[in-house]
Amino acid sequence: MRTQVGIVGAGPAGLVLSHLLHLQGIDSVVIETRSRQYVEERVRAGVLEQGTADLLTETGVGARLKREGLIHHGIELRFGGRGHRIDFQDLAGGRAVIIYPQNKVVADLFDARQAAGGRVFVEAEDVSVHDFDDASSAAKPKIRFRAGGESHELTCDFIAGCDGFHGICRPSIPAGALTIYDRVYPFGWLGILAEAPPSSDELIYAYHERGFALLSMRSPEISRLYVQCAPDEDIGNWSDERIWQELHIRLGTADGKWKLTEGPILQKGVTGMRSFVVEPMQYGRLFLAGDAAHIVPPTGAKGMNLAVSDVRVLARALAEFYKSGKRSLLEDYSRICLRRVWKVQRFSWWMTSMLHLFDTDNAFDQRRQLAELDYVTSSRAASQSLAENYVGLPME
Ligand code: APR
Ligand code: PHB
Repeated sequence: MRTQVGIVGAGPAGLVLSHLLHLQGIDSVVIETRSRQYVEERVRAGVLEQGTADLLTETGVGARLKREGLIHHGIELRFGGRGHRIDFQDLAGGRAVIIYPQNKVVADLFDARQAAGGRVFVEAEDVSVHDFDDASSAAKPKIRFRAGGESHELTCDFIAGCDGFHGICRPSIPAGALTIYDRVYPFGWLGILAEAPPSSDELIYAYHERGFALLSMRSPEISRLYVQCAPDEDIGNWSDERIWQELHIRLGTADGKWKLTEGPILQKGVTGMRSFVVEPMQYGRLFLAGDAAHIVPPTGAKGMNLAVSDVRVLARALAEFYKSGKRSLLEDYSRICLRRVWKVQRFSWWMTSMLHLFDTDNAFDQRRQLAELDYVTSSRAASQSLAENYVGLPME
């Protein structure tokens, strides 16, 4: 089997890349270990930067996003028992974010690939990548895998490693060729999906002496809520009652007027938090994109957006190569992506550091965090910095 670009992984990175390449007349094959149902039902991120939503709309996969996406023109930072709104409309030149769950993005892209006759292998096993190491070698890169009970070998010009943090592409690169930058945080998030109308029109990021809490949503009927917990928290210790109780305490206002609406919990889970970057994001003819190359803590809502911005750069570079034979943009892929990656890392780390309880004994740090929140919500310059990062920095 042959194609121009072999794509490992059918998350947002792999599917958006395959879609963008198709629009440029470039053939690709996507290979994914999970079933389509699994990928579409996996509960993941839910905030699209305006630029991400625009890309999906402009490339013809935005119909449902337009119907069901919730446009948010601000967020609330809640601390000391009071809410403070960050107004994107005013502070970020009218730009906004769109609440639309990652699993719907993935479903829309699967539909688009299928409608265009794109080849996507799901439930693939034993996926491995070969012969990508020497840019000048005559041997072409290959992806081997098993699917539908048969062994396959896909020969391609380039491989895109879009297989997430636990995928096989990054570990297939000789260790000495990569530098890893890593930070693991001493806490995690316990997240629930609840059948309850969101108790606020906009997201609420709450700083509390018992730890961070976040109110988010998936639709006008479904709330998504999180509380900071231990990184290895046993979900078994958290009954539904305990979760709601903690959310009431951490999100509550001093005047007692704000009410959190409860509802049946549909799903719950704990995720660890880390910041991770690998440099460079390319080795020979293997290009890493999305979570395969970097992880951000979820506080800035950036994971999916960063994956999409990587593959936008990669699609443009591959289009230039196939049109003109020029490799200059491909050679620049890692440098272009990393400039954005590090700015987004900084923002995600900063939001995380400002809002979480790091050390219960450190009263100095807690005062400093409250001062920072006070500054961010009272200085126009500081609010504007938060707003322009949250809605998404301009594309290079
Ligand atoms: N072979 C093929 N596919 C694989 C392999 C493998 N060996 N290992 C993992 N995969 C698949 C996973 O099953 C998953 O569907 O690769 C896909 C990677 O998708 P994501 O993890 O969603 O990563 P990415 O597309 O980079 O999107 C990043 O997803 O995790 C969120 O918060 C993150 O929002 C961010 C976004
Ligand atoms: C979510 O809705 O899952 C969500 C929203 C904002 C974040 C993180 C997660 O910062």
